[in-house]
Amino acid sequence: MMIRPISWEEEGVVLIDQKALPHAERYVTCRKYGEVIAAINDLTVRGAPAIGIAAAMGIALGAIAVSEEPKEVFKKALYRICDEFSETRPTAINLFWAIDRMKRCLEENLGKNIGSIKKTLVEEARLILEEDIAANRRIGIFGRECIKDGDSILTHCNAGALATGGYGTALGVIRAAHEEGKSIHVFVDETRPVLQGARLTAWELQRENIPATLITDSMAGFVMSRGKVDLVIVGADRVAANGDIANKIGTYSLAVLAGENNIPFYVAAPLSTIDLEVKSGNDIPIEERAGDEVVAFGGAMIAPKGIEVFNPAFDVTPNSYISAIVTDAGVVRAPFHEGIAEMMSGKNEGTGS
Ligand code: MRU
Repeated sequence: MMIRPISWEEEGVVLIDQKALPHAERYVTCRKYGEVIAAINDLTVRGAPAIGIAAAMGIALGAIAVSEEPKEVFKKALYRICDEFSETRPTAINLFWAIDRMKRCLEENLGKNIGSIKKTLVEEARLILEEDIAANRRIGIFGRECIKDGDSILTHCNAGALATGGYGTALGVIRAAHEEGKSIHVFVDETRPVLQGARLTAWELQRENIPATLITDSMAGFVMSRGKVDLVIVGADRVAANGDIANKIGTYSLAVLAGENNIPFYVAAPLSTIDLEVKSGNDIPIEERAGDEVVAFGGAMIAPKGIEVFNPAFDVTPNSYISAIVTDAGVVRAPFHEGIAEMMSGKNEGTGS
């Protein structure tokens, strides 16, 4: 059965609790927009597209609760809510993309009465969810061409159904190859410190009966050097105009290792993850998270009390290490700057090159 990590229900925004997986499949209902903000901050919902969808639904939830009239007051209150969402997680551009889209929807419908505006905002948030699932399916169709029957694939973090509206980006490509009947195997990086690979990707692959092997992050180089990996595929939190990408910490090391071992390194991401305002990876803001993610493991301290910790949640992979970026509008290869610009202007739509 398809995983529905986020849905809009009568009672509110329903999220699968990603903190509880893989031990429990539990759902939380957010009835107030502040609860969605808390869910984004504490990683109940995570993954770039999923964060964007949750924010859009949270804004719609906020809109419903705003009772102020006249319209200017309503608009101001909604912009304040948008500002609160924009302060949650800085790296995934999908968050800011979704907030902008909700603001645009508000502006375009200001002529309506407040009741209709609220309804339209809910419809927009639901549309963002449905469009994301459709985009993932297209990524899967374009990306599965990169996978041959018998391939062994390495992936990092979780770029699956859980990280999106459903289906997944990097894991969507893997799913699509599996659905096509290709016999594949996946090496899953555990992804320290939050273990999205061990907890979430392993869970998704097991559910689909896709053969998978869990490794710790530090084993990836050895596995590659022994000829056990045919390609690497990961998701992205932001793609710069020049094709540099930010993704989960550890992605850069994998890309360098893949390059050293002549293994193709693919990135799968929807167009909503591309940020043309950012020229290169150096300009992507990198989130730093609390040190307790590093000093503790499963609730138990593993480091001496008081040790200084550096905990960047993402790193940047320069475009020179990337074989191709698989988007919902086709596949872009070097020179990335031109390919991305063309794709974003719609010229390259669906050509796959
Ligand atoms: O900190 P997270 O778990 O939100 O980080 C997620 C990732 O880095 C994913 O690889 C990325 O968002 C792509 S998800 C389709």
